[in-house]
Amino acid sequence: MMRAKRLFQTAAAAAAIFLVGLGTAGCGSEEQETEKTSLRIGVSLYRGDDTFINNIRQELEACAKEYEQETGTKVRLDIQDAKGSQYTQNDQAERFISLECDALCINLVDRTAATNIIDRAMEGNVPVVFFNRQPVEEDMNRWNELYYVAAGARESAVLQGRIVADRYRRDPDSLDLNGDGVVSYVLLEGESSHQDSLIRTEWSIRTLKDAGVPIERITGGIANWERSQASALMEQWLLEYPDAIELVISNNDDMALGAIDAMERAGVSGIKVVGIDGTTPGLQAVEDGKMMGTVSSDKEAYAKAIFEIAAAKALGEELPENVVLEDGKYYSSPQRIVVEN
Ligand code: GAL
Repeated sequence: MMRAKRLFQTAAAAAAIFLVGLGTAGCGSEEQETEKTSLRIGVSLYRGDDTFINNIRQELEACAKEYEQETGTKVRLDIQDAKGSQYTQNDQAERFISLECDALCINLVDRTAATNIIDRAMEGNVPVVFFNRQPVEEDMNRWNELYYVAAGARESAVLQGRIVADRYRRDPDSLDLNGDGVVSYVLLEGESSHQDSLIRTEWSIRTLKDAGVPIERITGGIANWERSQASALMEQWLLEYPDAIELVISNNDDMALGAIDAMERAGVSGIKVVGIDGTTPGLQAVEDGKMMGTVSSDKEAYAKAIFEIAAAKALGEELPENVVLEDGKYYSSPQRIVVEN
């Protein structure tokens, strides 16, 4: 993969003289001028086995290496898996702060439960970059050293709707398999508490309707972003609605792949499937012609934004020009449509 060659803007800052705390836990109070030659960043993932999050993790590790090479600053990226437990994640954050991490990158387990982590970070004066699972606005407004990085949910859904609408315009028969003038779809949704699930579902369908595609919902279900859960749902739907399903709209690639697994097991072909994320297996399925299309997040830009905000804020530096924050806090990574040939 071609990595951006831009020099990290914070290179000079890394070697620059600035203030760091000494002795006590967290970024302490006793301050003294010293040269910063290393950065320690604590990262906590809501679930390390989530495919998309894993892709972001790999990019984060690549970013840290690139930063080290370009700036000569040693980076210690401490990545922990909260395994779906907010308690575990709170402990991890607390430990990162007691180990004097310079910044935290948190992929919240429960996006409504950021209070504890924010309290500890404020006490220790450690900036926090949340990502992918958005804290509620009230929490984000508590401190000016809180940031949020994600791929815009509405944008991804509009692009997903466009994949289907463009296909329908070019070749309606490939979606309206029984020729009744209507595209009958099933919908796979992510976690009910996740901001992306609701927004993606709403805007994907809205885009299709606005584009004039005649659609009809057969059924839908929550599969919590998971391939195996989606596969089980699709297996059941194929039995319940034989020969009726023409399209699977999925809130992410993993669930789309689960639907494809079920179709392969049942020996069913022809049903079109669309996802979101552009994960490594998702992109492969599009290339193999198994998935009609996906909306691919620029994972390199996504991870780079997380890392650069964390590094710049830890060093008290300005953000590089390529990381533009909305309202001084929010970064949205670019996304693009990827479709089968
Ligand atoms: C979504 C992504 C899903 C899953 C989820 C986890 O944005 O599309 O695949 O990773 O985040 O929070």
